Amino acid sequence: MTSLADKEILLGVCGGIAAYKACDWTRALRREGAAVTVVMTEAATRFVAPLTFAALSGRRVCTSMFAAEEAEQIPHISLARQADAVLIAPATAQTIARLAHGLADDLLSTLVLATTAKVVICPAMNSQMYRHPATQANLAKLREYGYTVVEPACGTMACGEEGPGRLVEWEEAHQALLAALSRQDLAGLEVLVTAGPTWEPLDPARLLTNRATGRMGYAVAAAARQRGAKVTLISGPSELAAPWGVEVVRITTAMEMHREVMARAKKMAVIVKAAAVADFRPKITASSKTKKEKAALTLALAANPDILKELGAMKKKAPRFPLLVGFAAESENLSAEAQRKLRDKNLDLIVANDITATDAGFAATTNRVILIDRNGNEQELPLLSKEETAHRLWDAALALPH
Ligand code: CTP
Repeated sequence: MTSLADKEILLGVCGGIAAYKACDWTRALRREGAAVTVVMTEAATRFVAPLTFAALSGRRVCTSMFAAEEAEQIPHISLARQADAVLIAPATAQTIARLAHGLADDLLSTLVLATTAKVVICPAMNSQMYRHPATQANLAKLREYGYTVVEPACGTMACGEEGPGRLVEWEEAHQALLAALSRQDLAGLEVLVTAGPTWEPLDPARLLTNRATGRMGYAVAAAARQRGAKVTLISGPSELAAPWGVEVVRITTAMEMHREVMARAKKMAVIVKAAAVADFRPKITASSKTKKEKAALTLALAANPDILKELGAMKKKAPRFPLLVGFAAESENLSAEAQRKLRDKNLDLIVANDITATDAGFAATTNRVILIDRNGNEQELPLLSKEETAHRLWDAALALPH
């Protein structure tokens, strides 16, 4: 799932200082196309006026069990029924305790008891309160109930303390919500994704690299996590934030990527190599900056290992080897070159990418690719967001018998 378009989201806001951040989240949800009904606890109304959420959501805000304008509509039941997902942010220690114990003494806790929708909880509180065994036990209970708990971020809190307890950034909650609403067709599978460029240093100041930003690989990792996979992302230098729920291993050079991929390859179900690995590295890396008067005008290079080709060769000898998905970055003969790489590297699927188009390839937020599988099936995808392209990649990978 790539967006929340047409989803009914019930946003539960509790009484913590981070309640003001839920105002922005309301706008973010609506930008994603979701319809938002805000339910506030009594304490939350002390921090932010319901009027603010009413204006941002475009709907009446619900604050009490007994404030129904139409008495025949029992608010907690109708709200519980209409929701696709309940997102609670910030979730305070008090509300977490209420939900863990099945209490129904305010509107929010009552409708969570009454709903069959997915529930995503984003705790935010003082670090000591968060670490307290009572809170941790309550959160464990909520996970047992099948709710998603989005761990708070670490940092300086409003109370001046440092530690876990800050409300996560919207993008993490967004990913958790997409995951809660997505089909879990990668559940139980462990996948490895590589992303970004590699940096091949000449000296402490200079390096060889390419134009990759990591966007496509990060989208592939996030999509797999949403669909239930356990995901490891081996990333070259990239400014992108780690996708929610994904283990990120940061590397710099192709040799480091090679080492990290090989250490994990065998236990994976699928490996997707979206990284733009530098094919060559400087033969010598100087330990101090080379002065231009002393620099040679030709650069001696050494070949980097072709990680994917090595994996493909291992797959020939091991029948139960992971499914291998590669990318082909091409500026001409897109389909023919991709087919050649698919055969040469013994892949199951290849994503052919025209890197000369401005709306596809490096740095763009969109992509236009051709998916070619080992049976010769070619699927030309239209211009899509990288997130949507990532989901189509997983659809194609899952369609291959394994
Ligand atoms: N790849 C790799 N290790 C390398 C080079 C590439 O694992 N040293 C992987 C990439 O991650 C990608 C695929 O191989 O999935 C194809 O990469 P690409 O750069 O398109 O092709 P190359 O094999 O490097 O060939 P060329 O540069 O000649 O097009």
